Amino acid sequence: MDNKENRKVLKVIDGHHYEQPPIWLMRQAGRYLPEYRETRKRAGSFLDLCYNPELAIEVTLQPIKRFGFDASILFSDILVIPDALGRKVRFEEGRGPILEPISATEIDPLCEANSDSQKALDHLSPVIETVKGLRSALPTETTLLGFCGAPWTVATYMIAGHGTSDQALARLFGHRHRVEMVKLLNLIADVSADYLIKQIEAGADAVQIFDSWSGVLGKSDFEDFCIGPVLRIVERVRSRIPDAKIIGFPKGAGLQYSNYREKTKVNCLGLDWTMPSEFAMELQKQGAVQGNLDPTRLVAGGYALDSGIDEVMATIGNGPLIFNLGHGITPETPIAHVEQMLKRVRG
Ligand code: CP3
Repeated sequence: MDNKENRKVLKVIDGHHYEQPPIWLMRQAGRYLPEYRETRKRAGSFLDLCYNPELAIEVTLQPIKRFGFDASILFSDILVIPDALGRKVRFEEGRGPILEPISATEIDPLCEANSDSQKALDHLSPVIETVKGLRSALPTETTLLGFCGAPWTVATYMIAGHGTSDQALARLFGHRHRVEMVKLLNLIADVSADYLIKQIEAGADAVQIFDSWSGVLGKSDFEDFCIGPVLRIVERVRSRIPDAKIIGFPKGAGLQYSNYREKTKVNCLGLDWTMPSEFAMELQKQGAVQGNLDPTRLVAGGYALDSGIDEVMATIGNGPLIFNLGHGITPETPIAHVEQMLKRVRG
C-alpha cells in the first residue's frame, strides 16, 4: 500500500538525478497563502494550530493541493521542543516567538525534570497524530517530511527568549557557561531524536534538521554546538531506524558545510543561497543537495526569478538535487511567482 518507489525526493536523497528535479519549499504552508491565513484565524494561537491535528493536516495539505509540490512538510514549529520541555512558548503578532530566557542555574533542574523524553513526547503526541493523518491523506508520490530544529538553533531562542540578529546572547552564554550549554544541547538533542523517531514511525519518509543559526558560530563552537549535537541526533535516530533518511540544513555555515556533511553523516545537505557555485558542486559530489534559490528572487519575480532558477540549475542541476529555496518563503511572496517558478523548474 505504502509504495515509496515513486517518491522522487526519496530517490534523490539516495543519489538519483532527475533532469527536472523534485521541488518543495521551506515554510511552504504559511502566510503568503490566503487559505493558510483563513485557517490560522480559526485556530486561535499559532501553537494551538500546531497542536490541533485536524487543522494542522489542513494547512499542511494546502500547498500540496494548490501547487502539487513533490514533498509535504509536517506543519509544526521547531519551538514545540522547548514548549514540551516545560519552557512555555508563545508567538506574538509582529514579534515572533517569546520564551522566558533560561539561566545557567535552571539547566540542571530542566534536565532532571526531563530525565527521559516521555513527558515531552506525551506533550507532542498531537503532532504525531498529524503525521499519521497526513500519510494517509497525501498522494502516494508525495514525500512526507518530518523535522526538528537543531539543538543550537533551538537553544538560541531558549537563552535569549526571542529572536535576535546575531545570537550574541546565546554565544556569550556558551562561553560563560560551557558545561551548562553542553548539557542543554544534549537534552534538546535526545528529546529531538526521540521525537524524530516517533515521526518516522508515524509515516514520515525523511526528516530535516533546521540549523538556521549555525552560521554565527566560531570554529570550535561550530564543532561543539552544531556538529556534536546534530551527530548525537543522527546516531540516536539511526540506532533505532538504521536507514533513516536525514536532511541537514546548517544555514550560513559557509566553508564548514563539508566538515558538517562528513562528520554528521546526514544523507542530504540543505544549501543556503550564499554558497559559491564551485563549492556547491564539490559538495554535491559527496551526495544529494537541496536548495538554494535566494527567497528574495521569488518575491521579486520576473527576470530576477528566472535567472536565479537558471543559475541554480546550471550549478547543481546536473546531480542529485531537491529544488528548494535557500531559506523559508516569506509572507510577501506573490503566489503567481511560485507558479512561475514551478513552470520553469518543471520545464
Ligand atoms: O515549512 C513548513 O511549511 C512547515 C512549518 C514550519 C514553521 N516553522 C511554521 C511557522 C517550519 C519547518 C518552521 C521552522 C522554524 N521555526 C525555524 C527554522 C527555519 C527558519 O525559518 O529558519 C525557525 C527558526 C522557527 C522559529 C519561528 N517560528 C520563528 C522565528 C517564527 C516567527 C517568524 C515568522 O515568520 O513569523 C515562527 C513562526 C512560524 N512558524 C510561522 C509559521 C507558518 C508564522 C506564524 C503565524 O502563522 O502566525
